Amino acid sequence: MKKFYNFPEGFFWGSASSAEQSEGKGNTGKGKTIWDHWFEIEKNRFFDEVGPDVTSDFFNRYDDDIKLMKELGHNSFRMSLSWARLFPNGDGEVNEKAVEFYNKVIDTFIANEVTPFVNLYHFDMPMAMQEKGGWESKKVVKAYANYTDKCFELFGDRIERWFTFNEPLGPVLGGYMQDFHYPNVIDFKRATQVAFNTILANAKAIRKFKKHNLKSKIGIVLNLSPTYPRSSNKYDLEAAEYCDLFYNRSFLDPCVKGEFPKKLVDTLKKYDQMPEYTKEDLKIIKENTAQILGINYYEPRRAKARDNAVNTKSPFMPEWLFDTYVLPGRKFNQYRGWEIYEKGILDLCNNVKDNYGNIEAFISENGMGVADEARFIENGQINDDYRIEFIKGHLKYIHKAIEEGCNINGYHLWTFIDCWSWMNAYKNRYGLVSLDLKTQKRTVKKSGEFYKLLGKNNGFED
Ligand code: BG6
Repeated sequence: MKKFYNFPEGFFWGSASSAEQSEGKGNTGKGKTIWDHWFEIEKNRFFDEVGPDVTSDFFNRYDDDIKLMKELGHNSFRMSLSWARLFPNGDGEVNEKAVEFYNKVIDTFIANEVTPFVNLYHFDMPMAMQEKGGWESKKVVKAYANYTDKCFELFGDRIERWFTFNEPLGPVLGGYMQDFHYPNVIDFKRATQVAFNTILANAKAIRKFKKHNLKSKIGIVLNLSPTYPRSSNKYDLEAAEYCDLFYNRSFLDPCVKGEFPKKLVDTLKKYDQMPEYTKEDLKIIKENTAQILGINYYEPRRAKARDNAVNTKSPFMPEWLFDTYVLPGRKFNQYRGWEIYEKGILDLCNNVKDNYGNIEAFISENGMGVADEARFIENGQINDDYRIEFIKGHLKYIHKAIEEGCNINGYHLWTFIDCWSWMNAYKNRYGLVSLDLKTQKRTVKKSGEFYKLLGKNNGFED
């Protein structure tokens, strides 16, 4: 029997993107980011050797793009500000042309009744700051806090929801553990320093924010994956606990509760992987926690006790304490290699409800990147029923989470128009709207039509 999934009044429907992945360079004199730099020196590591120079040219096309969002059921959208655009050297004087650009963008959102959620950092470290040590350096933490302070001053009168970071775990994993972000270091101790400093930067930005006495709220967007043990065997359970500590609670606990999990700290001490910090740092983290939480959910993590003994000559990694494994017969996105497990979103929301004070939250990313979508064109439109199914599958569980008392107030799909991905460039397409890279032509996909009705009806029937 069909059911109509009705969402609470005022639910935020929309999508998300980031500056580096959609703006293009523009003409404000944007400073180089680590992505511009890495692309310059190692093009071959980017799919089809496409870099972030042009992307979908939001810089020049924001007006039409925002109107199209409105048309396709959006009442909100998460954008990010580019630190390197506003401060080409990372610090010093703000770039007035960049301010003018973001003022126009924000005003256009508001004029179209699409509420902008603003994220302050989405993987895009200014190269000048990376040269000073990136997140390993306390000087960079300070520069970031000053940058955010300026943003609150400049745009704070119009923004209702701020986010300090998108997925701070990403640069830790990519840049210092697994070699998929610049600076391509493999060193867990440096990774923990980067993680700690990012958490401190988040807290310092929140501290600055509070000084502005704005009516708006600030929080952080985390990529969370519910962690499932293979069995109830005690070593499988312990493995899952470690996996959860390193990859979820490492950020979730300090950012929402202001404290690091004791077992994580003990483990880092045991393996001599502790970052450097001061008591004052811990105090700042304790006193400046998130007021709202963005949850990015793509895939679960499945953990089991390690099959083999650790090679203690290899660099320390959290995986010394667990193995991840593939669920036989899992549903998965073959283009990205990620498991699709819709119920995971319910488990995540319940975890936040039960263990993190039911903090006001929203699903800040969820989506499906598919390669070669042109093969699905029918009558000039990409017939992406798989994406519609993906969205509905997750929304049903979000609906259930809300029924169970979870404080979830919105859903943002990744993404609106096909965007540039970090190393995959335009290999996998995530958008509700397809992009012809050569002509910049936008064409609404079938999922875009679905989204239009979703927003209009504040829910869907299935
Ligand atoms: C999220 C990021 O992790 O996943 C986005 O916040 C990213 O920036 C998205 O694009 C999809 O991942 P990918 O690597 O396929 O682009």
